Amino acid sequence: MLTDNFGRKFYYLRLSITDVCNFRCTYCLPDGYSCDHDRDFLSFDEIKRVANAFAQMGTEKIRITGGEPSLRKDLPEIIAACKQTPGIKKVAITTNGYKLPEHLESWLDAGIDAINISIDSLDPRMFHSITGHNKLPHILKGIDMALADGRATIKINTVLMREYNGHDIKTFLDWLKVTPVTLRFIELMQTGDNQEFFDAQHVQGARIKQNLILDGWLPVVNDKAAGPAQEFYHPDYQGKIGLIMPYSKDFCNTCNRLRVSSLGKLHLCLFTEEGLPLKEYLQEDDVEPLKAQIRAMMTDKKATHFLQDKLTGATKNLAMLGG
Ligand code: GTP
Ligand code: 5AD
Ligand code: SF4
Repeated sequence: MLTDNFGRKFYYLRLSITDVCNFRCTYCLPDGYSCDHDRDFLSFDEIKRVANAFAQMGTEKIRITGGEPSLRKDLPEIIAACKQTPGIKKVAITTNGYKLPEHLESWLDAGIDAINISIDSLDPRMFHSITGHNKLPHILKGIDMALADGRATIKINTVLMREYNGHDIKTFLDWLKVTPVTLRFIELMQTGDNQEFFDAQHVQGARIKQNLILDGWLPVVNDKAAGPAQEFYHPDYQGKIGLIMPYSKDFCNTCNRLRVSSLGKLHLCLFTEEGLPLKEYLQEDDVEPLKAQIRAMMTDKKATHFLQDKLTGATKNLAMLGG
């Protein structure tokens, strides 16, 4: 099992397979970021070796992220390879869902267990203004198809932004009355270059939490694999709510995840600017040197992201690391 100096155990790997994204969410991509389709992203074989090495060290769940992971043509093969890696129990993906109806079947057949989809507004015009794309009805159709199929769990990610969706909480709640998904309200995170946007748009998740509790939402007792969201259910609603509040105290205490970027760097925290290069250890099927390197790197993991990064304005990595 991979552990750190603070006794935390890491059984969840977030693996970014591309930096490229076809959406332009207002809060996400750094200024001047240009997608370079020809960058040296992890190859299929390198991905298999990463999965293998982490699985041998106790990783049970791999979440495939991007950029937008479905922009890679070999995504179904990547899902299948992760799923077939001995020790991996669960393979998940985080996607903007832009071609969900078209891709769904191939992901499910490859063995995907969970699909998280970003929807920051249920108003098609607002959705367009946030993402630059008119895809909301199409994505909702994909969600209906996935729910009807039933093989994968579906979660929705909604980044809270005062002027974009801050007044639409009720619209999301109405949707959850009839839709059996978990919708997570995510506090906007500060990145290297969104300071002004952050100051204008940041909404405290704690305030949403208070209102939910007043409205009769009850906390779900989470298991150890629950991740960063605090979850709530309500007897009158088919869906659940999660709150992801990275600025709340104790958020990092339960950190259970590591990240590997599409360029093959290990990120010990979402908020560390520079990843630790693994690429040279990914060139052979023998994963022992890779495992030794990862174990050695683990000693640098800090207790929390707050100290180092609030001061320097945090990272630009969110987009490239897929959160
Ligand atoms: P589950 O595996 O279903 O629990 O999903 P998840 O919440 O781990 O993954 P997802 O990719 O859907 O992430 C949802 C949001 O949580 C994104 O905005 C991520 O950036 C954020 N998030 C996930 N893990 C961390 C973390 O370790 N630190 C911080 N600050 N944010 C995180
Ligand atoms: N703050 C909070 N969440 C973010 N995401 C991307 N950038 C940010 C940010 N600055 C989220 C997306 C998506 C997930 C991959 O990360 O909404 O759901
Ligand atoms: Fe793309 Fe996701 Fe960033 Fe939106 S939040 S631009 S979908 S990587």
